[in-house]
Amino acid sequence: MKVAGKHFRTIWLNEDGWSVDLIDQRWLPHEFRVENVRDVEGIATAIRDMWVRGAPLIGVTAAYGVAIRMREDPSDAALDAVWEELHATRPTAINLRWALDEMRNLLSPLPEAERSEAAYARAAEIAHEDVELNRSIGKHGLEIIKEIARSKKPGEPVNILTHCNAGWLATVDYGTATSPIYLATEEQIPVHVYVDETRPRNQGAHLTSWEMAGHGVPHTLIVDNAGGHLMQRGMVDMVIVGTDRTTAHGDVCNKIGTYLKALAAKDNGVPFYVALPSPTIDWTVRDGVKEIPIEERSGDEVSLVWGRDEGGKTRQVRISPDATPAGNPAFDVTPSRLVTGLITERGIAEASAEGLAKLFPERAKAA
Ligand code: MRU
Repeated sequence: MKVAGKHFRTIWLNEDGWSVDLIDQRWLPHEFRVENVRDVEGIATAIRDMWVRGAPLIGVTAAYGVAIRMREDPSDAALDAVWEELHATRPTAINLRWALDEMRNLLSPLPEAERSEAAYARAAEIAHEDVELNRSIGKHGLEIIKEIARSKKPGEPVNILTHCNAGWLATVDYGTATSPIYLATEEQIPVHVYVDETRPRNQGAHLTSWEMAGHGVPHTLIVDNAGGHLMQRGMVDMVIVGTDRTTAHGDVCNKIGTYLKALAAKDNGVPFYVALPSPTIDWTVRDGVKEIPIEERSGDEVSLVWGRDEGGKTRQVRISPDATPAGNPAFDVTPSRLVTGLITERGIAEASAEGLAKLFPERAKAA
């Protein structure tokens, strides 16, 4: 997508042909910084410390990490070690394991001399595929927005609530939840987005708001607890969120607080959609609530809040007593019964084993 008139993806190969440039998202919305990452340790840090984040982008970044390691050492031992090292960076987003498996399955049978080139080619392909998948998600999601728009008075916007950032910053381009929103804007269908701030790291306030503002999408930032109230007042037509892992039965793991939005949506008859590319489906898990590992991050993310002061300096402030411990589960699971539909690259699936199997029969059968 465009930043100050220039097209950017979130990650790309540096002109040296082997290291990786990426948008360091920690500084947004106040500063737009690009970092050059030249080793696997840097890739692991970028994922763990959330310079890059969002399930699809985590996967693509890891794929490039494998390529960088293969350039240095294409041995089996190095391949296994980089898989382990990068897999340990963030536990919940299944796209990480998916991308690492893709790389290892491709590279393992190859002679060592061919691995580096093949690894860079596959990492680039995964990045390209992500863009294509998100475009398709956008087209299918757009149909839902159009349908709601038809029930509106001319010029009245479709009000969409979203949580966290499942935007282009969370992917290589377009985003998942935002892809239908960008397409609607391109087609001049009036939309308005309620952006949950998404404590504790404020991905909504920092990133989704920045995306919406940058692409001229009318939006309003709200505190995380406002969604239920807005739904009761009839101010939300639909919810669209992303996901870090969706089970073959349609349970949706996403940023902490998503579950509460889904409950409020159900209570108020507001359709609750989840946008996801198929690499986000975990075909091995049966019960999302019991089986998906939920990342527990540092309590400092709850106690210390980043912002920009009046003097224009980006800094952290503490908002709780020094002695107060903070818990920080980063994700929660929304059971499939609360999900209206899963917007995938192949169309909209019912959030159930049958619904997903209908769209992805080859994957469901193999699982
Ligand atoms: O902790 P984050 O910022 O990586 O969490 C991101 C989300 O929860 C997104 O909604 C999810 O990864 C889907 S991104 C298309």
